[in-house]
Amino acid sequence: METRPLRGKPVRDAVLTDLKNKINHESRPPGLAVVLAGDNPASAVYVRHKEKACREIGFHHVTHRFSSEVTQGEILSCIQQLNQDPLIDGVLVQLPLPDQLDQQEVLLAVDPQKDVDGFHPENLGLLVAGHPRFIPCTPKGILHLLQYYDISTPGQKVAVVGRSLIVGRPLAMLLSLKREDGNATVTLCHSRTRDLPAATRQADIVVAALGVPQALGREHVSEGAVVIDVGINRVEAPETKTGTRLVGDVNADELDGWVSAITPVPGGVGPMTIAMLLENTWEAMMFRSQAS
Ligand SMILES: NC(=O)c1ccc[n+]([C@@H]2O[C@H](COP(=O)([O-])OP(=O)(O)OC[C@H]3O[C@@H](n4cnc5c(N)ncnc54)[C@H](OP(=O)(O)O)[C@@H]3O)[C@@H](O)[C@H]2O)c1
Repeated sequence: METRPLRGKPVRDAVLTDLKNKINHESRPPGLAVVLAGDNPASAVYVRHKEKACREIGFHHVTHRFSSEVTQGEILSCIQQLNQDPLIDGVLVQLPLPDQLDQQEVLLAVDPQKDVDGFHPENLGLLVAGHPRFIPCTPKGILHLLQYYDISTPGQKVAVVGRSLIVGRPLAMLLSLKREDGNATVTLCHSRTRDLPAATRQADIVVAALGVPQALGREHVSEGAVVIDVGINRVEAPETKTGTRLVGDVNADELDGWVSAITPVPGGVGPMTIAMLLENTWEAMMFRSQAS
């Protein structure tokens, strides 16, 4: 069987072009603020990518950088200022935060109307109630990707492996909602799932978001299924110039020729996440202008 690659870049480009056209008709660009604390190298890379994407399509963006010794009070007061700033539509706190900070209190401080990551309980509650306001970016990107490649979910069996707040849990919820990009029968798997291969082999679509490099192979996926590989793991690769390479949470070599479609790593789900962040920021600007 030929395995179709579900590449994120064309979908990302289409989303960004659409946003660029939309903002041409507005009196000001949407504004995104990122709060970055500490010196986590992966976080610094993600934030640079976010800034670059904002520049590419003309969004206003600011990044507030704090050292790893930052106090809870300093972060909260920064968020309060951003909540009040009329030129900022979206506020994102880059996770993980340094250990001394109370992450839950920080996330709760973000104005739910500017919570473009969709992690505030008010937004998660709306999602569960079936009326999402801001959908967390990675799950939203996966729904876009499925739609772009005409992979419909109504009536399909989907196994989501991983129940994190950022990916697995909101995605499982979205896919089970009564709407055209949902209506799936969803099994949410995690580290305590008994006989994971038996659970995932039942599925027409398998989503791997467990954070374990190349963990799922042929024994986990039925022939002809669709695989969405969310994982981004850097592993040692002495054969490469840098000595490392990125791999997903599935064994792509083993699944090539076995499944009908798969998202490559890198270049599958990854490019979608930032595009969805910008889309959420645009939507935040629209909500706020309708409310005022
Ligand atoms: N492409 C993107 O833009 C993007 C965005 C976010 C994350 N990611 C990647 O996606 C992956 C998951 O990220 P995350 O933040 O959701 O991870 P996470 O917070 O570490 O959560 C991992 C989840 O997988 C489950 N799990 C771990 N080992 C398992 C196993 N052997 N069998 C079954 N379930 C297992 C855990 O179960 P328990 O709950 O029982 O512990 C947990 O629910 C990572 O590779 C990350 O780098 C990519």
